[in-house]
Amino acid sequence: MTISLETKLVVSSIALLAIVSAVIATATTLLIDDFLIDRLDHQVSSAAHRSMGAAGPEVSFLLVPGQAVETFGARVRQGAVRRAAVLTGVGSVQDVPAPPSVARVTGEPVTINLGPMGDYRMVGARTRDGDVLVTGLPLTSMQTTLTRLVVVEAAVTLAGVALMAIACTLVVRRAVRPLGRLAATATRVSELPLASGDAIRLARVPAADTDARTEVGQVGGALNRMLGHVETAFAVRHESETRLRQFIADASHELRTPLASIVGYAELTERGGEPHGPQTAHALGRIRSEAGRMTTLVEDLLLLARLDAGRPLERVELDLSPIVVNAISDAYATAPRHRWLVSLPDQPALVVGDHDRLHQVVTNLLANARTHTPPGTTVTTTVSLDPDRVSVRVADDGPGIPPELLPHVFGRFARGDGSRSRLAGGSGLGLAIVSAVAEAHEGRVEVSSEPGNTVFTVSLPAR
Ligand SMILES: Nc1ncnc2c1ncn2[C@@H]1O[C@H](COP(=O)(O)OP(=O)(O)O)[C@@H](O)[C@H]1O
Ligand SMILES: [Mg+2]
Repeated sequence: MTISLETKLVVSSIALLAIVSAVIATATTLLIDDFLIDRLDHQVSSAAHRSMGAAGPEVSFLLVPGQAVETFGARVRQGAVRRAAVLTGVGSVQDVPAPPSVARVTGEPVTINLGPMGDYRMVGARTRDGDVLVTGLPLTSMQTTLTRLVVVEAAVTLAGVALMAIACTLVVRRAVRPLGRLAATATRVSELPLASGDAIRLARVPAADTDARTEVGQVGGALNRMLGHVETAFAVRHESETRLRQFIADASHELRTPLASIVGYAELTERGGEPHGPQTAHALGRIRSEAGRMTTLVEDLLLLARLDAGRPLERVELDLSPIVVNAISDAYATAPRHRWLVSLPDQPALVVGDHDRLHQVVTNLLANARTHTPPGTTVTTTVSLDPDRVSVRVADDGPGIPPELLPHVFGRFARGDGSRSRLAGGSGLGLAIVSAVAEAHEGRVEVSSEPGNTVFTVSLPAR
């Protein structure tokens, strides 16, 4: 069970106060009790002294001057109470029943209960004729004093604890509130998408909570400094990433023109009418195909760099079905020995997006199903509509993606080791582009693969 700091502080200080108050109250009560008994014992002794001075018959000693009303007197002879009485007024006494314990009273003061008259403090003294005169004074007034004291102590303690509880709660709440604000700031920062790599502005702890003279303020100040560092680090990272992206985009862009020239000149030389031997013809063919590969690579790099830079895509409403049909007819033209199957929905598969990029997604998936599988492989492309999503599924019954490649298959330059892939000459950027385009459309791509069943599913939000 977790208890809040506030509750812990309040409860422990109140408990402490309650304990201390109880100890003080008990000690006071005991001391006063002692003091009052002592005083009463003195008074009883004086009363006994007066009685001895007038030790007449029976209980007449009660009638000596100075004896207080309610004074108890008894004459004990041979271990038995002869007569016991209480002084009720000037010159008048009233007989009272006395318990046998009165007969055992000696010079030491003792407390004896006289039934309806309550407790008495008594002391005994022996007369010359061998009787014992027992004199006593009531304890009631002292007991009333003590009871009142205990009641007052309890009331004061309770009131003190209640007051302390309120004051403590207020003070602690005030002290803890800035901590809550620090936590809120930290939580807000922790909810930011820090992994996106973009430059961001982080929330800060309010200036009021960064006073270095308080502990909370020190934490707040440290938190703000840390957030500042994090922000700077992010800005620096973002800056260098942007520069790198820009560099790749520029480099790719710059490479397009010379590459186009190379291809053009190779073609010109091939068809140029000048006779050349088979070796030259072969070399020219290689130059053309390698330059073609490089062009694709450069185009892919440029596209990825632009997608990374968050270059806005075209956003128009379009139907995915014709895109898929076009891509399949291209694929069929390139690889007629594969079996190309397609299944389309009755309604248009409408999404909002960039036509050329989405066309490229389908083309890349179909190109993979073509280049990484042997002739005779069946490739089934399905467009399906869900209430809020449109998905394109490309499945083939080829050899599948190697299990060790599968987790990184959407990574850049991730390629299978098989000689087929090498021969097919892919750059390893095809699926990276598929994934980046899907994400730029707020969609996603998933893959599952085992020998005989490889499935790529791209799903996009429906219009
Ligand atoms: N349909 C598929 N069947 C088998 N392997 C595949 C399939 N699609 C992709 N792969 C594997 O995934 C790798 C990455 O694909 P891709 O990013 O398009 O790069 P590339 O096609 O240029 O090699 C490929 O090299 C291949 O090994
Ligand atoms: Mg590919």
